[in-house]
Amino acid sequence: MTAPPACLIIPHVMKWVYIEDIAAHAGQSVEIRGWVYNKRSSGKVRFLLVRDGTGLLQATHFSAEKDHPLFEMFDRLTQESSVVIRGAVREEKRAPGGFELELEEIDILQVAQDYPITPKEHSTPFLMANRHLWLRSQKQHAVLEVRAEVIRAIRNFFDSRKFRLMDTPILTPSACEGTTTLFETQYFDQKAYLSQSGQLYNEATAMAFGKVYCFGPTFRAERSKTRKHLIEFWMVEPEVAFAELEDIIELGTDLVVDIVGRVLENRRRELDILERDTAPLAKVRKPFPKMSYEEIVPRLKEKGSAIQPGDDLGAPEESLLAELFDTPVCITHFPAAIKAFYMQPAPSRPDLVLGVDFMASEGYGEIIGGGQRIHDPGLLEEKLREHNLPREPYAWYLDLRKFGSVPHSGFGMGVERMVSWMCGTKHIRETIPFPRLLYRIYP
Ligand code: 4AD
Ligand code: MG
Repeated sequence: MTAPPACLIIPHVMKWVYIEDIAAHAGQSVEIRGWVYNKRSSGKVRFLLVRDGTGLLQATHFSAEKDHPLFEMFDRLTQESSVVIRGAVREEKRAPGGFELELEEIDILQVAQDYPITPKEHSTPFLMANRHLWLRSQKQHAVLEVRAEVIRAIRNFFDSRKFRLMDTPILTPSACEGTTTLFETQYFDQKAYLSQSGQLYNEATAMAFGKVYCFGPTFRAERSKTRKHLIEFWMVEPEVAFAELEDIIELGTDLVVDIVGRVLENRRRELDILERDTAPLAKVRKPFPKMSYEEIVPRLKEKGSAIQPGDDLGAPEESLLAELFDTPVCITHFPAAIKAFYMQPAPSRPDLVLGVDFMASEGYGEIIGGGQRIHDPGLLEEKLREHNLPREPYAWYLDLRKFGSVPHSGFGMGVERMVSWMCGTKHIRETIPFPRLLYRIYP
């Protein structure tokens, strides 16, 4: 009888499991596939700390034999070496995660040479240049787990409320949020722009589906280098036919409360790793205080802001808001001059618009921007002219006001701003796997 080909022989029958599921395998022998995070030895014991993307696991081996073959393998392992390890899972209160592996076998896939990110301190430019590796570090990993949770919460929120997901285009022929931050590109023999917002298209799908949302990447050629701006960021944008400003404020409030609740409930471990004080997040409850632009400006001036009536709120004002409120706050009725062309004027004050900005607590700044849209065709044409926008690319948008026009409202929430606030990260660059920044597009 001939032997079966080598590749068909399964040498180990142990089940490959992920570290996050380890508790379900206490007492069983399992296989873990991962990377060496750290190692240490103490007398006759070797401790190998392995990460597999879902968690960290301590694997230990005890032997009185000084040159036990497992010890020799252990000695060859360096940070980020790839390994398959096998052994029995045992409850161990002192181990990270509360379980450890009684290490019986190690297969080394590769011994990593000179991994650049060591436990010592590194400069931010160095870490950013090594972002593809920095993602493996515990804190970065925790931030991105929170990001995934925030996105899951958002999708769940809108799907369970029966909003229809409508993907909007990334290549567009016209501007949504002003012409100064447009990324221009060539679209065969005409000019096109990367999307700044899916809103205008959302307004069309809302008239077709009632309540919709889009969720995708958004691009802004922001020339300012701040801690809150990315060049490429993700935005979720609901749009609701027949909704007015107050309806959309309520929707935004429910969304924020829901996300914060889910992050607190499901991502405690990550928030602990990030040393996030969760007390301010626990205060996020409905309703949020609401103030008009004209009410907030004098309050900010009292606190020392140099803001003049008519100015947009900037970073210093966002920080000062934290001294006035310990929860998010909704600011409404902005001067029309500092907002986009599509905003519905306030009924008795046409110089103000029915817009709303949600400002996060603790100085994390604007997380949501939106409001009620102009539904009158004549007024919209007038506003396009006032903003020096050409009529032709917006012809389809004007059509929406011709065929059964209704009041409608919506908003956009920046995912990275939300994640930054949840995690307490000082700079937005850590809230997306590969941030695009003013002076960085590598890696
Ligand atoms: O306030 P913005 O510019 O509003 C819009 O784009 C509307 N068209 C949305 C709508 O009504 N459908 O942007 C919305 C949100 C901001 O509140 C902020 O959270 C985020 O998007 N944002 C940014 N996040 C990161 N980097 C940037 N450069 C951002 N610009 C806006
Ligand atoms: Mg805004």
